[in-house]
Amino acid sequence: MDQTELLAADDAGLARAAALLAAGGLVAFPTETVYGLGGDARSDTAVARIFEAKGRPRFNPLIVHLPDLAAAERIAVFDHRARTVAAAFWPGPLTLVLPLRPGAGVSPLVTAGLDTVALRVPAHPVARALLTAFGGPVAAPSANPSGKVSPTRAAHVMAGLTGRIAAVVDGGACAVGVESTILGLDGAEPRMLRPGGVPAEALEALLGQPLAIGGSAEKPSAPGQLASHYAPGAAVRLEARAAETGEILVGFGPVLGDLTLSSEGNLVEAAANLFHILREADLLAGPEGRIAFAPVPETGLGRAINDRLRRAAAPR
Ligand code: TXA
Ligand code: MG
Repeated sequence: MDQTELLAADDAGLARAAALLAAGGLVAFPTETVYGLGGDARSDTAVARIFEAKGRPRFNPLIVHLPDLAAAERIAVFDHRARTVAAAFWPGPLTLVLPLRPGAGVSPLVTAGLDTVALRVPAHPVARALLTAFGGPVAAPSANPSGKVSPTRAAHVMAGLTGRIAAVVDGGACAVGVESTILGLDGAEPRMLRPGGVPAEALEALLGQPLAIGGSAEKPSAPGQLASHYAPGAAVRLEARAAETGEILVGFGPVLGDLTLSSEGNLVEAAANLFHILREADLLAGPEGRIAFAPVPETGLGRAINDRLRRAAAPR
């Protein structure tokens, strides 16, 4: 692959993006959470290209993106519980892990050979238009090299993957800014596999029960289970109330920094800013530098923000 096309999110750009997907090419596209790196989920070749472009460990299965619930029900088996959750939160920043429907036609590379599959119906109008134009299931991890910071703008995708993928559809900045919440509904107990754009509290209220925490560090079941992830070049320190010598401080609420996630202490704004600010702080700090983050409360979107920050700070 030589050049990555930067496509506008208009009819011509979406038609080109759908044609590239149909030819087995990789197209990065905006969702409300982060930019995804899409490929035809039915094609072993396209899915293998996703792993290659990201340099991603193969044991990590991918999320399949669909335009609506009807399309999702052709890939996985929904019970009453799954339909209730889908009705409440789709389209939106929620991924459901469900039993794979026999004969669904999804490449085994997508599910890493599991008998379950992760499905999501995104809300972003550009993602929905692309899924409709393409007319098939699209496997899409976040559009960044494996282990690095997720992209929330087309320029972030270009910075990490240019020359390695066919195209990027530019849909501006992502509104939610952290990946989807992953909810496991493949067993008796609903399991929280990754905190994300839908707060755990909202799912617990709908399901009327607390969520079990799924996965473990030994046996990764969702992305966050890998210790170091979202890693900038600079070292990261958490729970900082002031900068130490040589640190770039990222504030939140009353802690003022060189940059801030949200000066008002607003978690929605902080999530939307998180990955862009992580990149900006990394540039300011430089390769040998250090970044310190102010404390963020562990409620609502704060759980997803803190999860990503802990992984950015993890030993590597
Ligand atoms: O917001 C998002 O979810 C973004 C946008 C592009 O949609 N996508 C995303 O994909 O974050 P990715 O590939 O970075 O994260 C998918 C995670 C995997 O790391 C995997 O652990 C988990 O979903 N997953 C996928 N299939 C699974 C399965 N059958 N069982 C358990 N976990 C699964
Ligand atoms: Mg990712």
